[in-house]
Amino acid sequence: MGAVVVVGAQWGDEGKGKVVDIYARFADQVVRYAGGANAGHTLVVEGEQLIFHLMPSGALHQDTRCVLAQGTVVDPKVLIDEIQTLDARGLFAQERFLISERAFLVLPQHTLVDELRDRQAGALGTTKRGIGPAYEDKVARRGLRIGDLLSREKFERKLRANLDAWAPVVAALGGELPDVAQTVERYVKYGETLAPMIGNAADAVRRSLKQGERVLMEGAQGALLDIDSGTYPFVTSSSTVAGGACVGAGIGPTSISSVVGISKAYATRVGNGPFPTEMEGDAGDALREAGAEFGATTGRPRRCGWLDLPALRFAAQVSSFSGLALTKIDVLTGMKELQLCTGYELDGKRLDTPPYDDLDRVTPVYETMPGWDEPVSGCRRVEDLPENARAYITRIEEEIECPVWLVSVGPDREQTIVVREPFG
Ligand code: GDP
Ligand code: IMO
Ligand code: MG
Repeated sequence: MGAVVVVGAQWGDEGKGKVVDIYARFADQVVRYAGGANAGHTLVVEGEQLIFHLMPSGALHQDTRCVLAQGTVVDPKVLIDEIQTLDARGLFAQERFLISERAFLVLPQHTLVDELRDRQAGALGTTKRGIGPAYEDKVARRGLRIGDLLSREKFERKLRANLDAWAPVVAALGGELPDVAQTVERYVKYGETLAPMIGNAADAVRRSLKQGERVLMEGAQGALLDIDSGTYPFVTSSSTVAGGACVGAGIGPTSISSVVGISKAYATRVGNGPFPTEMEGDAGDALREAGAEFGATTGRPRRCGWLDLPALRFAAQVSSFSGLALTKIDVLTGMKELQLCTGYELDGKRLDTPPYDDLDRVTPVYETMPGWDEPVSGCRRVEDLPENARAYITRIEEEIECPVWLVSVGPDREQTIVVREPFG
């Protein structure tokens, strides 16, 4: 039994939290392998909503172990808050949670620089969680890691060197560096709280796989936000695609048995960057209202548009999707007609996938499909869905050459049609 990887197939917020929670029922271990508290993964169980930024979305299942792997960047304050929230509800057990000693730390200078940069002209519109600067430190080989929290001396030495590197950047942005002594005190305390949960996470994942356990890899963000394959530079700073699960968790590609990509039945994007199928004005506002499209991390209104199949096809290719989870199909109920973007035109040429650049210049080519009026949130089998909704799903499967394994018909855990279980 290999690992199942769950990844976002758009610009994030596809419903990864919900789908991971559903699959986690059958998993022994759920591993968050990339990104940080820029993620906001929503779970709704019996009407009650929980949003995780760092805690893997398997956390509600008491027989499932959760791992925060080496590919993530961790703001310990956010993590401890989430642990306390779960603990207060009697849902947390230290022995079920492991944080990689190799995961990188998000430090106050990272959030500061992220915020200051995002005020500049041409900004990306980041989540301001310090993600970009934290990953910058990692590749510049001057980052601090979770394991460094366990030694005051080591932490302080590395912190001082790191602050020296950021000093000119912070000065140029008109900011003030965080105080060393205060930062050391705070972070050493975080280290004391987290110490029992810090360890060799990659080894734990590998052992679990070796024993034939069911391992679920939880991606963050989405394919179009990937540092290599996304709409650069309007991307995040990590590998959000399925390949990221290997480096992020510390396993090889042959350990992965299947990949489930998640897409909404339409498209959204939060933050700046090209979005060919974006609906402007009233139509976009109506979709945002119907889908409650406001960021789970920042509360920002999400930009909304029609489903972009060239982008989804590309996501399926770069992550070798085995199956697709299609979410929020209920939001389309009541629309007379649906537009499905099947390709783009750029300078007189037809494109089937996004160009490396110039996505802001493409013209979407649409196919019109009939909508449906029937509410679908009560459907529990594909056969229960209205004929036009089924036709819409089939058209997507044909276009991206990937079968639908799950259809989500509402935010709640129960509002789900599982067509095929990823663990077989
Ligand atoms: P994630 O980042 O991929 O985990 O997604 P988010 O949690 O940021 O955003 C997805 C939003 O859609 C959340 O508010 C979910 O509760 C909600 N959601 C998920 N699936 C469905 C669905 O099928 N229908 C509706 N109406 N809402 C859904
Ligand atoms: P989940 O896991 C949606 C976007 C930001 C911005 C860009 C870079 O909930 O799907 P960053 O803070 O990462 O440097 O921001 O990426 N972004 C997300 N959009 N969902 C997310 O996560 C996102 N994480 C980052 O809005 O455009
Ligand atoms: Mg989200």
